[in-house]
Amino acid sequence: MEQKRSGFSGKLGFVLAAAGSAVGLGNIWRFPYLAAKYGGGIFLLVYILLAVTFGFTLMVTEIALGRKAQLSAVSAFSRFNRKFAFLGYLAAAVPIIILPYYSVIGGWVTKYLVAFCSGNISAAAQDGYFNSFISSTGEPILYFAIFLGLTALVALLGVEKGIEKVSKFMMPVLVVLSIGIAIYSAFLPGAMEGVIYYIKPDFSNFSVMTVIAAMGQLFYSMSLAMGIMITYGSYMKKDVNIEGATRQISLFDTGIAFFAGLMIVPAVFAFSGGDQSALGQGPGLMFVTLPKVFETFPGGTILGALFFVLVLLAALTSSISLMETIVSIFIDKFGWKRSLTCLVVLIGSIVLGLLSTLGYGVWADVKLIGMKFLDFFDFISNSIIMPLVALITCIFVGYFIKPQALIDEVETGGARFKSKKLFVVMVKFIAPVFILLILVSSVLNAFGIIKI
Ligand code: PFF
Repeated sequence: MEQKRSGFSGKLGFVLAAAGSAVGLGNIWRFPYLAAKYGGGIFLLVYILLAVTFGFTLMVTEIALGRKAQLSAVSAFSRFNRKFAFLGYLAAAVPIIILPYYSVIGGWVTKYLVAFCSGNISAAAQDGYFNSFISSTGEPILYFAIFLGLTALVALLGVEKGIEKVSKFMMPVLVVLSIGIAIYSAFLPGAMEGVIYYIKPDFSNFSVMTVIAAMGQLFYSMSLAMGIMITYGSYMKKDVNIEGATRQISLFDTGIAFFAGLMIVPAVFAFSGGDQSALGQGPGLMFVTLPKVFETFPGGTILGALFFVLVLLAALTSSISLMETIVSIFIDKFGWKRSLTCLVVLIGSIVLGLLSTLGYGVWADVKLIGMKFLDFFDFISNSIIMPLVALITCIFVGYFIKPQALIDEVETGGARFKSKKLFVVMVKFIAPVFILLILVSSVLNAFGIIKI
């Protein structure tokens, strides 16, 4: 039975909506701290190489699968082959795990926005500010709830058109602002050393962890291996060129991540007075470093406030796509009303998110395989489930439905699939082997069986 699906208006609508989902905290918050921690220039190089090979292949695969099936992830796999129904569920687990902790970080962004708007910039730039905020109990929960509430509200209203409009305006401003702040930051006294660390690959900084971290980040940042691009592909018109759209989305996504790193990593050098241990501090990097940059800037309060507004909007467009995915899975599966589903997802996410928030405060001593809750959720989704989904998807496409089926989909309406050969070789051979290696080594590493 053919059902009419709602769709994006055209290529621009599709690219913007997909980029709105892809560009988010992953680019501005997660990418810079991973790049700082895992080797600077070498991480950047590995990431870009992975993006144009693995990222490209997987994104084309997911979009083409979705457009061919005209179904969202959970049903798409079983439509092609019943034995693979489980893959849809596995992919669906990812947004369920990510949304709560994503909203915790979204809450931190909201808090900083409020601090900047109320002119509290010098307090926010103090050394202990971030840690004392996240380790308290009430405030982080309040901001987490505000962020999640906003996300749920939009998901409830389903204002797709609104999101498209906001993205159209927001993305260019975000690009301009990121480039501007990156240039400013790179020329702070003492920052040049950081620019070099960030851009110049130093092979002595390379480790297997560089590749594992870069691969996990790639999936996360491009919203891959979690069914999102399958769903979006199912909304895409047949005359839109999948290959071209994929290139544009990746360029957008990687570009914003690159400039975010350039905003933050050199500034870490400038403010740490040569103490490079600051590079390894992880999730707090953006929150600790950027306020210091803004403090030195004439009119920094306004600029900082504007910056956090944009980060918040970028985070919201992503969290909305996460929530929308979960909600539509539940509606499809259980036939619940949208309002009830939103409420259930909201409550579930609050409960899971509370673990992540409190994991920085009163429950700081609770560790799961040596990790705090937030890191644990991040690890499970990015380093385990997503590679697993990507791996099985490649096997599924390479050996069950066969790459030609998707090549035909990409070439619908006479489009030429320029990277066809790369696609086939990647999906059948290179990607599965490589992803398997990554998966096994990150699991062994997490359980302390090998040390990388
Ligand atoms: N890609 C988003 C980011 O980089 O922030 C995160 C994300 C959004 C992941 C939506 C998954 C998703 F469905």
